[in-house]
Amino acid sequence: MRRPWVVGVSGASGTPYAAATINGLLDAGEAVDLVVSRAARLTILDETGRAFRDGHWQDDLTAWLGRNVGDGDVTYWPAGDLAAGPSSGSYPVKGMAVVPASTAACAGIAIGLSKDLLQRAAEVNLKERRPVVVVPRETPVTRSHLEHLLALHDAGAVVLPASPGFYGAGAGASAQQLVDFVAGKVLDALGVPHSLFRRWSGELGAAHESGVVRARP
Ligand SMILES: Cc1cc2nc3c(=O)[nH]c(=O)nc-3n(C[C@H](O)[C@H](O)[C@H](O)COP(=O)(O)O)c2cc1C
Repeated sequence: MRRPWVVGVSGASGTPYAAATINGLLDAGEAVDLVVSRAARLTILDETGRAFRDGHWQDDLTAWLGRNVGDGDVTYWPAGDLAAGPSSGSYPVKGMAVVPASTAACAGIAIGLSKDLLQRAAEVNLKERRPVVVVPRETPVTRSHLEHLLALHDAGAVVLPASPGFYGAGAGASAQQLVDFVAGKVLDALGVPHSLFRRWSGELGAAHESGVVRARP
């Protein structure tokens, strides 16, 4: 039986995090059910220069991810379709990543608003006690943002801020390496194997070609 991961892309800046996460899941042989919020169409357009259209999702996703998604690995559900598979707990999925997560999506999921399929699917996965990873992207944050993140944590979600570490690739890390670091942490939280970043080895300076300093004696 097909058991995909639901990936919800909401309207926060950081669409490269979504692309890297989806690509990482597909590279690991996982199936993906994709939900793109209405606001995320704006961020995709803004950040990639490309439209994302329900009626042409396969072409638009292929262009966005830079890979052919016509082979059945990805199922796309319009965000307004509240009768879609992921809106029910009986629809088989492994869990969900909301990446990037807008403050609005965090709030909606935290209070059970279910204003669209993305929020409903996240609530369903939380109530079914499946892995849910939420990747908020906003700075600075208000008290209410923090309260919603705490509520998500208490409901069982992994709150994984879009906050890349530099230890994998060093201070000269490229934007793509920093994006891959966050996507790799999402896959770690979902338990999906990947090679998106160099793991900490216990050696200071391992990311540099210029020698390694031992972290501990
Ligand atoms: C270009 C653009 C960038 C945005 N960036 C962010 C952001 O980084 N974080 C955030 O929380 N909201 C951001 N927003 C605002 C959200 O899109 C807005 O709150 C929207 O209602 C979120 O809806 P959604 O959660 O259904 O996707 C941005 C909006 C636009 C148009």
